[in-house]
Amino acid sequence: VLDKLKIIQTDDGSSSIYNELLNENYHSTHGAIAESMHVYITHGLKTINKKSVRILEMGWGTGLNALLTLCYQDDKSIFYVTVEKFPLSQEVLEQLNYPNQLNTKNAAHFFKLLHQAAWEKEFNVNDDFILEKKQLDFIHYQSKIPFDIIYFDAFAPRVQPELWTLSMFEHCYHLLAKEGVLVTYCANGQVKRNMKMAGFDIIPLPGPPGKREMTKAVKK
Ligand SMILES: C[S@@+](CC[C@H](N)C(=O)[O-])C[C@H]1O[C@@H](n2cnc3c(N)ncnc32)[C@H](O)[C@@H]1O
Repeated sequence: VLDKLKIIQTDDGSSSIYNELLNENYHSTHGAIAESMHVYITHGLKTINKKSVRILEMGWGTGLNALLTLCYQDDKSIFYVTVEKFPLSQEVLEQLNYPNQLNTKNAAHFFKLLHQAAWEKEFNVNDDFILEKKQLDFIHYQSKIPFDIIYFDAFAPRVQPELWTLSMFEHCYHLLAKEGVLVTYCANGQVKRNMKMAGFDIIPLPGPPGKREMTKAVKK
C-alpha cells in the first residue's frame, strides 16, 4: 500500500501525501494545516474544558494532528493515543514541510520527537504531553480508561467505507467518556446517520476552507 505515495503541496502551502492506490489524499487539497487546525484544534481540543485531556486519534499518518495539539496545548495536560495500521516510512515523513510552515517555536523539535518516539510505548514529549503510538486496526483498539475526545481522521468513506460503519461508531462511543466528543472532517449523510444510531448527538459545523461542513458527535 505504501509504495504508491507522492508528496503534494496543498493550497495553504503545507504538504500532504497522495496515495495513488486509493486515489486519496491524507488531507484536504485546500490546505492540510488549515483543515487539521479547523477540525481537530478549533472545533476539537479548544472546546474541551478540562485541564487534563485524553485524546484518541484514528489514523496517525503524518502526525500533523499531534503536532498541532502540541503547539496549541496551552496549559492543558495531554495524554494522546494514536492508532495507525500502516505507519509511513521515515523517508516520506522527512519530506513534509510542517515545521517550516507552522513557524511556531519548537515545531521542528516537536515534529522530530513525535516521529522518533517508539511505537507501543508511552513517551513523554514534554512534562504535559504523553504520546502513545499503537500499530493496529482501530476497530481492535481497546482501553480501560475512557477518552474525552476522538480525532476521527480516517480516509474518506468513498475509499474506506468499512471505517465509517455503525459498528465503528459504536466502538468509538464505547471508547469515550460521558459527554466525550468525536470530531471529523467528514459530513457524509450516511456517516452521520450511523453516528446517530450509535447513540451520538450530531452537531454539524462549518467546514475548513473549501468544504461546506464538518461533523462533531457528542456522547450523551
Ligand atoms: C486521512 S489519513 C490521515 C492521517 C493523519 N491524521 C494525518 O494527519 O496525516 C488516514 C490514516 O488512517 C490510516 N488507517 C487506514 N486504515 C486504518 C485502520 N483500520 N486502523 C487505523 N488506521 C488506519 C491510514 O494509513 C492513514 O494514515
